[in-house]
Amino acid sequence: MAVYTPVIATWVPQATGPKIPSYLYVIKGFYTIFALRRTTLFLEEVLYSCLLIRQLKGWDLIGPPKRNWHLRGIHVKPNLMRVLVTGAAGFIASHLVRGLLEEGNSVVGIDNFDPFYSRTIKERNLQELQGFAKAKHANFEFYEMDLASLPALQKATQAPNLVIHLAAKAGVRPSIEDPLAYVQANVAGTLSVLEFCRTNGVDQLLFGSSSSVYGNDSKAPFREDAGAVQPISPYGATKRSGELFCSTYANLYGMRIASLRFFTVYGPRQRPDLAIHKFTRLIQENKPVPFFGDGSTARDYTEVRDIVSGILKAKTWIQDSPRATHEIFNLGGSRTTTLLRLVELIEGALGQSAILDRRPGQAGDVELTYADVTKAGKILGYHPSIGIEEGIHSFCQNYLKDHSNT
Ligand SMILES: NC(=O)c1ccc[n+]([C@@H]2O[C@H](COP(=O)([O-])OP(=O)(O)OC[C@H]3O[C@@H](n4cnc5c(N)ncnc54)[C@H](O)[C@@H]3O)[C@@H](O)[C@H]2O)c1
Repeated sequence: MAVYTPVIATWVPQATGPKIPSYLYVIKGFYTIFALRRTTLFLEEVLYSCLLIRQLKGWDLIGPPKRNWHLRGIHVKPNLMRVLVTGAAGFIASHLVRGLLEEGNSVVGIDNFDPFYSRTIKERNLQELQGFAKAKHANFEFYEMDLASLPALQKATQAPNLVIHLAAKAGVRPSIEDPLAYVQANVAGTLSVLEFCRTNGVDQLLFGSSSSVYGNDSKAPFREDAGAVQPISPYGATKRSGELFCSTYANLYGMRIASLRFFTVYGPRQRPDLAIHKFTRLIQENKPVPFFGDGSTARDYTEVRDIVSGILKAKTWIQDSPRATHEIFNLGGSRTTTLLRLVELIEGALGQSAILDRRPGQAGDVELTYADVTKAGKILGYHPSIGIEEGIHSFCQNYLKDHSNT
């Protein structure tokens, strides 16, 4: 009977009562070791089951760990999260989702397949992502859904720890044609995301903003502390507005938010309306290239891999940052390229000359974009590494490969 006494009691000498033979202490000692071992195995079994469920279902049962560790073949990486990505079928977000899955995060994506460009392109982006997730046993759920319907997501799936909001109506010139649609998608849409975060207790958000907020009156290279109060297109104004709402919600509800100002992003799967993609297609098809102004307007072009690396670094930073933060970061290549030079680079990469269809400069187009990335470098550790020459070369190679089969 004494063998079943609780562990601590076994080692307390008994003042009174019958004398216990010493061999019984030895048996009790062995039993104690045996019981402790059983308890440890049982706890390990529970933890292992939690990890399996976490891995299979993407549920964050035990919160993100701080360090790498392994348990029976499961590698638990630090700072893994359940991330909601809006606009997941789009150009930048589809690259980002892949990066998040590669890190081991589980991802929920939403997109409404906005008709700004072909649904087929976005479906192809999604198919690639789903194939990748399947091959890597990664957790990726997708819902076709408008930002305005985000409350319905609460019922469909588990709440995320972090939201990366990239859904938007993009494009400067079309925003002049239909400003109300841009306000609906980009301003009301961003507010829907902030409300979703508030009502689900999600306190971490990364917002995809744009260099368009700087307009024409900011001193180059653009710094985040510039006023940015005179965007020259409705698109730029909606993005600035989104940043201001982010700041308000960070103050009101103690959220941690970073607004990331992207500078003209390019790379594989780039939107077909953007200059690099459009020029490549037209030059390759020997068709006239619409060329606005004298070619001296300049852009800070950023390869999408640098943007994804910047977003992932911002994700790590926001996880460790204090509450109630709203910080703005430029994510750019931090080099400028004129329109004329861009055409030359594409001509060189394709080995074909462009037929230029010269036209006057357009309303809404800024003269120059140029990112000062000192702040992002110091705080996030963001350092763009892909120069325009290398980036255009690999863009054109990819373009030719994709279009040789069609
Ligand atoms: N590509 C660039 O050069 C660039 C530069 C600066 C900022 N940005 C910003 O980065 C983000 C991603 O840009 P992108 O180039 O990948 O554009 P994209 O058009 O390829 O992706 C945006 C996605 O959002 C989706 N979307 C639009 N409205 C929606 C809504 N109401 N509900 C749900 N989904 C919706 C679209 O269907 C699309 O798939 C956007 O916020 C854009 O403003 C892009």
